[in-house]
Amino acid sequence: MQIAPSLLAADFACLQRSIQCVEEAGADRLHLDVMDGRFVPNISVGIPVVEAVRRITRLPLEVHLMIVEPEKYVEAFRRAGADTILVHAEATFHLHRVLAQIRASGARAGVVYNPATPLAGFEYVRHLVDQVLVMTVNPGFGGQSFLEEMLPKIRECARLLRDAPHPIDLEVDGGIDLRTAPMTADAGANVLVAGSSIFGSEDPARALRELRRAATRPSFPGLA
Ligand code: DX5
Ligand code: ZN
Repeated sequence: MQIAPSLLAADFACLQRSIQCVEEAGADRLHLDVMDGRFVPNISVGIPVVEAVRRITRLPLEVHLMIVEPEKYVEAFRRAGADTILVHAEATFHLHRVLAQIRASGARAGVVYNPATPLAGFEYVRHLVDQVLVMTVNPGFGGQSFLEEMLPKIRECARLLRDAPHPIDLEVDGGIDLRTAPMTADAGANVLVAGSSIFGSEDPARALRELRRAATRPSFPGLA
């Protein structure tokens, strides 16, 4: 199980300290949320912050683009240092084209599905995808509650990925904590994004380790 701390919940006045902390605690990658105030009702950070984060960590950097027309900014985010670029299926008319564009830029390509979006059509872009992100909250804000009705969707996605000819990460984002991490892992996710449950804790390093332990513990259906 891989853990991707979401910097949205970190203290932006001392980002370096927060990043060092989760890096030392064994974070597998960093998750950076880019919001444009149009695709989602909130604005967060952009290219200069990705550049700055790139300079202070060696962890893989994934950029979650919650912006309309992501195709306009793929190369800029790649140049800024994104290793993986995640685009929403709902945010572009040409998902196939933008995924190919991300691959051509040299980054890993990821497709993201909002809670109300079905996985229909995924088979036609699967060969262009290194990662699928299933949202378990409506994107735009940290600290929201996990939508349990997404568990069947995570299972369905895991089935679609199982037959893929190349390995594809199945990531989940939104409301991941000690209670929801085990059910998400059970459903088949192998990467968990966590913002407030890590950076909102008094001891983010310990929170990260506990989250990983909770997600990797064998579960016993029926005892939950
Ligand atoms: C929400 C973002 C998430 C957010 C998750 O739109 O995509 O990455 O930071 O935050 P938590 O873990 O607090 O739900
Ligand atoms: Zn995110």
